[in-house]
Amino acid sequence: MKPEIKAFIFDVYGTLFDVHSVKEKCDDIFPGKGLSISQSWRNKQLNYFFLRQLMGRYENFEVVTREALRYAIAQNHEDWTAEIEDKLITAYSELALYQEVKKVLAELKNKKAIILSNGTNHMLQSVVKNAGINHFFHSILSIDDVKQYKPTAAAYNYALIQLGFQREEVLFMSSNGWDISGAKNFGFHTAWINRSNAPSEKLGLAPDSIYEDITGILEWKSQE
Ligand code: LAC
Repeated sequence: MKPEIKAFIFDVYGTLFDVHSVKEKCDDIFPGKGLSISQSWRNKQLNYFFLRQLMGRYENFEVVTREALRYAIAQNHEDWTAEIEDKLITAYSELALYQEVKKVLAELKNKKAIILSNGTNHMLQSVVKNAGINHFFHSILSIDDVKQYKPTAAAYNYALIQLGFQREEVLFMSSNGWDISGAKNFGFHTAWINRSNAPSEKLGLAPDSIYEDITGILEWKSQE
């Protein structure tokens, strides 16, 4: 029997949207290197916000995403220009929505669906509006409001403060193992959306459920 969930909190990048859907735009600019640049870009984006958090040198997710893109272009021995950077940052606000997302969000209509993301408010509003899913959400929360990246406890606590729920009333969903570990560490129920069939993290913070896409989370929706 699943506990009653009052808030379904979603991660964004990698969970609702395919961050690697930018590879086509990268390939248009750097033929044959789109996938390599996209993978390097995402890996370095994660690396940079982890490092900035640990060093106490916070910059918002757009700055970090731009810095990571510059690294990815250099790592692929290509030439950066401000115009290319702006074009690819714009592509980040037009990421592909995973195919099951709209249907599942529609099924949650009588529940509170919330976003908690490392993205900036501007980035989140853009990508969600461009995908036509903003009306599904009760709240769209950016950790930039507290300048503390997930997986810090302060980032998840920000959602609790804003929403007025207890930890036990929340189901947190992410495709990112580091994010699910952080949410579990904080005390949320967690559903790992393991889209890439990755091995589980070895941090002693096992998710409560594992699904291949977000359809499975409907098991947590108690009967109305
Ligand atoms: C998010 C990504 C970084 O917070 O997991 O949406």
